[in-house]
Amino acid sequence: MKTETLTSDADLAKDPRIKLISAKIKKENFKPDALIEILHTAQNAYGYLPMNVLKYITKQLHLPPSRVYSTVTFYHFFSLKSKGDHTCLVCTGTACYVKGAQAILNEIEKQFSLKPGQVTADNKLGISVARCIGACGLAPAVVLDDEVLAKVNAEEIVNKINAKIVES
Ligand code: FES
Repeated sequence: MKTETLTSDADLAKDPRIKLISAKIKKENFKPDALIEILHTAQNAYGYLPMNVLKYITKQLHLPPSRVYSTVTFYHFFSLKSKGDHTCLVCTGTACYVKGAQAILNEIEKQFSLKPGQVTADNKLGISVARCIGACGLAPAVVLDDEVLAKVNAEEIVNKINAKIVES
């Protein structure tokens, strides 16, 4: 299992989830009217809307930050805060599915008794799924907090989540 830490703005460019958002922005022809759909894509990828991602979207759509911020805060389904102390995004796109993503997701659901979109009762972990995070060469790929875990198996990811929970 290889890991990659993505914490700074510079690292954002390497984040496969940004590629997913970028692809959505291009598909929508950079139209400001597509803001809500693009925000949905971002929230699905991250589980919430991190500030540096909002800045990226703002810049790409040439929108005033106030417009993006007011949209995010107006709709209750958008969140500026991470759901759960730790977030785990399992890619279930075709390349990851073929390489065992479903088994990974099943094991996480079983071990932590939750489904995508939910957080554990103690708020330690939230999980979500994405159809492709744009890192198919790393399949099966899982994003745990700010780390992209490449070529993972179910046991490795469960151990890694448990280690994160113990550390926090
Ligand atoms: S299908 Fe998982 S990264 Fe593309």
